[in-house]
Amino acid sequence: RNIYYFDTVDSTNIKAKELAMEVEEGTVVIAEEQTKGKGRLGRDWLSPKGKGIWMSIVLKPQLPPSEVAKLTLIGAAAVSKALEEIGIESYIKWPNDIIVQGKKICGILTEMSCELNMINYVIMGIGINVNLENKDFSKELVDKATSLKEIIGHSVDRKKLLGAILNHFEDLYIPFKNAGDISKVINISKEKSILIGKKIRIIQGETERTGKALDIDEEGRLIVEYEDGTVDSIFSGEVSIRG
Ligand code: BTN
Repeated sequence: RNIYYFDTVDSTNIKAKELAMEVEEGTVVIAEEQTKGKGRLGRDWLSPKGKGIWMSIVLKPQLPPSEVAKLTLIGAAAVSKALEEIGIESYIKWPNDIIVQGKKICGILTEMSCELNMINYVIMGIGINVNLENKDFSKELVDKATSLKEIIGHSVDRKKLLGAILNHFEDLYIPFKNAGDISKVINISKEKSILIGKKIRIIQGETERTGKALDIDEEGRLIVEYEDGTVDSIFSGEVSIRG
């Protein structure tokens, strides 16, 4: 594997973008620390030194940009399967968060570059709170986020977890890239879903709606029944569970 390893970077997504055109598909950029870790919706991502897995994978599927949402599901499924392998039960909050014991321990930020309605490259940034301690999180974050170490009470081997993620990712990505096959990913997404059957709130741009998550379809869309009884399937959005 092609792995670029850094002690400190601004953001592995930024580094991966700089390298993307000249490296081969599957190249991984990983860092001990990010000084400007990026979350979705312009948020920051806390990335203290030596305590997490902060990485970005460069992908070059020959596909139109409309297919990119599926890549995020592949990433989430790979992380969830890898956690299972090391004995940690996790849930996927469609489409890009991993939840353990009710708190977020991993987020995925997928960015892409396209030309003439084809993908040039995709940067899949995966951040996992492995060995952070509660004191590493700010007051605002501590209720929502945690780390694997806080949950299981001892440090987790980052190398072992990283290896497992990359193996699962490859297993799930290759059939998708070669044949558009994401059936295994969909099965994992459904099996590990924290949303299916729950009352949810969905924010898409300016609009906010409430409903119930019914299922994930074969294209990876979330099927939602809104409060007026209409049923729709959505490709992306910020989803939260209503208490
Ligand atoms: C989110 O849940 O908001 C997404 C968080 C993504 C964080 C990862 S850490 C590695 C990669 N580099 C970044 O700057 N962000 C992603």
